[in-house]
Amino acid sequence: MENTPTLVLNDNVRRLIDAIVIAEQRHLAERRSEEACACTEGMFPRNLPTSRRSFVFAAGSTAGAVLAGAASAGEQKAPPGAQFYEVPADPTKELGRPVGADGGYGSRSQFETEVRWRFPTANEYTSWSMSPLDKIVGNLTPSGLHFERHHGGIPTIDPSRHMVFVHGMVQEAKKFSIADLKRFPSTTRKYFIECSGNGLTEWVKPTLKSVQGTHGLISTSEWTGVPFATIAREIGLKESAAWVLAEGADAAVMTRSIPLEKMLKDAILAYGQNGEAIRPEQGYPLRLILPGWEGNTHIKWLRRLELSDKPFMTREETSKYTDLMANGKARQFTFEMEAKSVITFPSGEMKLPGPGFYNITGLAWSGRGRVQSVDVSTDAGKTWYPARFDTVPEPISTVRFSFPWLWDGKAATLQSRCTDETGYVQPTLAQLIAIRGANGPFGSIYHLNAIQSWAVSADGSVSNVHA
Ligand code: CO
Repeated sequence: MENTPTLVLNDNVRRLIDAIVIAEQRHLAERRSEEACACTEGMFPRNLPTSRRSFVFAAGSTAGAVLAGAASAGEQKAPPGAQFYEVPADPTKELGRPVGADGGYGSRSQFETEVRWRFPTANEYTSWSMSPLDKIVGNLTPSGLHFERHHGGIPTIDPSRHMVFVHGMVQEAKKFSIADLKRFPSTTRKYFIECSGNGLTEWVKPTLKSVQGTHGLISTSEWTGVPFATIAREIGLKESAAWVLAEGADAAVMTRSIPLEKMLKDAILAYGQNGEAIRPEQGYPLRLILPGWEGNTHIKWLRRLELSDKPFMTREETSKYTDLMANGKARQFTFEMEAKSVITFPSGEMKLPGPGFYNITGLAWSGRGRVQSVDVSTDAGKTWYPARFDTVPEPISTVRFSFPWLWDGKAATLQSRCTDETGYVQPTLAQLIAIRGANGPFGSIYHLNAIQSWAVSADGSVSNVHA
């Protein structure tokens, strides 16, 4: 039997992939113009004198970008999330801004330009945006850079009027306001959320250039809310209850069926993210958090939970979010995100200035528990070395790892491999395709957790490869 999967791309898929590649190139070109400086070569992009920086962006849109250089003085633009201030020649010779000049809510520095990149779907209301993993330090994702996936835009919801209705196979159906929920004892946990479509362009050949494009559908926040188990005790469940329909209040009325066992185990009705109210793009005022399960099940703008004895077979678990196997059958209700990792430095589109020491770093995670260990290879997986954890591994959270590398200036292929506490080892792409088949973009779309390879060429440039 022929082992090499044949891939037939229809014209629509081919056009979409072409559009994606072009959009990413435009996004990267804008970034490069912000960072353009012979001294940086993509590696140390933050050392530019102010006067040379041009703030080039339009949040969520690459086409709408405006060159600040084209604007007259006094019309200087700050990046999204920042305010523009004149830079004094010597900050020790004049007073800074008065305390409270920001109105009491802080914003980031005008010199920080990272933004989410919107995947160029034709319809910008059903689209997704990716976290700039190569620019994020530490473990938590800033709330403003958390990846997004929307199916009907971002609703504006008044929390004083928002209710979540819990009904179906229960003893007593009840509505809870946000204020009601805040009266219960809360729980706070750091969990990653990963879209099961993370990496969907990368099944057949390396497609996107940067780690933001290949892996940017993962983010980690600290979530605060009420365990569903607490609510279940409050209303009482019927013996026959086995599934829960979770429904969002967006224009898509997103719905997913969740096994009751998972809901009782660790589901959270979350109103908090990173110490403040959850962001609108993340489900304000209430989101279902299902630790370790595919992002789509974490229903945002949660308004209804219906208990039943069977799944509801919604669009998002029949037409979408199923996994087409090589034999033409599909897996359904594939909820758990398997162990995965990626090197974020160095990564695609960067350029190392020359041989010498580099601190390889990246993120690892598993939907099944703690990350046990991460190994790093600089020779395409022939030799593996244990990486160091920069953060303490927590269950179902990302961990920041690093590995000291003395680059000899020869071509190298960098990989990372995650092992979780269940003993599961992150597979190579070949191992994954042997099980799942290669139905190509976009037959096998979801749950690509294969080892990522970055090729470092002798001139120091880093690129996305399959190795
Ligand atoms: Co799935």
